[in-house]
Amino acid sequence: MTTTKTTSHYALGSTDAEQERLIRQAALLAPFTERFFRGAGIGTGQRVLDIGSGVGDVAMLAATLVGPSGEVVGVERDERSIDRARTRVALAGLHNVTFTQSDVSQIASGKPFDAVVGRFILMFLPDPPTVLRSLSQLLRPSGVVAFHELSWAPFLLLAARLPLWSAATSVIHETFRRSGANTEMGFALYQIFQQAGLPAPAMTLEMPLGNDPEFIRWVPDVLGSLLPLAQRFDLPLRPLGDLNTLPQRIQAEVSASNSVVTWMALVGAWSRKSATHA
Ligand SMILES: C[S@@+](CC[C@H](N)C(=O)[O-])C[C@H]1O[C@@H](n2cnc3c(N)ncnc32)[C@H](O)[C@@H]1O
Repeated sequence: MTTTKTTSHYALGSTDAEQERLIRQAALLAPFTERFFRGAGIGTGQRVLDIGSGVGDVAMLAATLVGPSGEVVGVERDERSIDRARTRVALAGLHNVTFTQSDVSQIASGKPFDAVVGRFILMFLPDPPTVLRSLSQLLRPSGVVAFHELSWAPFLLLAARLPLWSAATSVIHETFRRSGANTEMGFALYQIFQQAGLPAPAMTLEMPLGNDPEFIRWVPDVLGSLLPLAQRFDLPLRPLGDLNTLPQRIQAEVSASNSVVTWMALVGAWSRKSATHA
């Protein structure tokens, strides 16, 4: 077993609404994460460990890349999320995905993995280098470590020209920040991989663009999941007006700009465990 003293508070929770939000988000991001995983070398026949699986989207995506001769093990500590993930895997008819309920810092070791992957998980951990170092011990030599995380900095800069969009995204960012999440985990990955004893990673950055209601709704959606925390932190919600009409007013602002807005910057980092990794 890999055991490190790294538990954390998770700001988004796992209500039904948050689970639906994660599923919508995963549909938007699937082409980006798939391209990143393929580039990192995830492919046919591999045994892959997905950490912080949520309701299973990354694990299911990895399962399509490794095919029936491969296998994916997802690790998630939230019981409701695991239940949902198992139901979705069964409905999808995937026989090569299983889930284990565990904190990522306490994963039992077994047959070595060919790859360890994750999306939007290291940003929530208090000690990512320690977790990454222990995860590497579950990998075979030359195994792949590949993580998709976020950078908020370019997103906040580009959001500034639209007042309501910008005010809403600032509340979300500040709530994450005060909850202890690292909103610049994307760029931090370069050093964190090395602190975990891995070679410096190859890295990618992509920013999805859009302006239709499905693209834009992630802001009011995430705000909905974070609202109890934002209120507890006494963040400025009044400038956002009636939260019930926020989606329509944000959409009107974006449509009036006759432009597109960005999603947060998706930063990918991957490298291979060296034979001498300790
Ligand atoms: C933002 S969600 C991402 C889910 C999934 N990777 C995706 O991209 O759709 C992060 C997930 O990590 C889980 N999580 C957070 N901290 C964890 C920990 N220490 N151990 C295991 N799971 C954790 C949360 O419960 C949540 O389901």
